[in-house]
Amino acid sequence: MDLYGEIILDHFKNPRNAGTIDDADIIGEDLNPLCGDKVKTFLKLDENGLIQRFAFCADGCAISVAATSIIGEGLAGLSLQELESLENEKIYEMIGVPISTGRVKCALLGISCIRKAIKLYKAENAEKGEKNKG
Ligand code: FES
Repeated sequence: MDLYGEIILDHFKNPRNAGTIDDADIIGEDLNPLCGDKVKTFLKLDENGLIQRFAFCADGCAISVAATSIIGEGLAGLSLQELESLENEKIYEMIGVPISTGRVKCALLGISCIRKAIKLYKAENAEKGEKNKG
């Protein structure tokens, strides 16, 4: 097996940050409608609103689990803004493995889950802010 294949297999068999965060600030759930594979992501923020911890659980293919595991390793210390503005090209770079067109949804399942969860979190917070204004 080539090095890329070994990295994917290693992250698939031993996903980093696998699990949940009980007091997570942002929780997301997403699935790939093409295959039904699912992922759930958890983000804990620090007092400055930066990402302190990331965790995920997934029922998915090797690429989706490995990609989420690899991406998750680089999230600590990022702001939500920075995380949201990560282009897909940057995500592919982080994964470090050539992704064929047919596996794009697999590779982006985790990050798309995180992006949706952040969008929802921000919308809810904006709503709360509006209510508090009164
Ligand atoms: Fe379902 Fe990859 S085959 S996410």
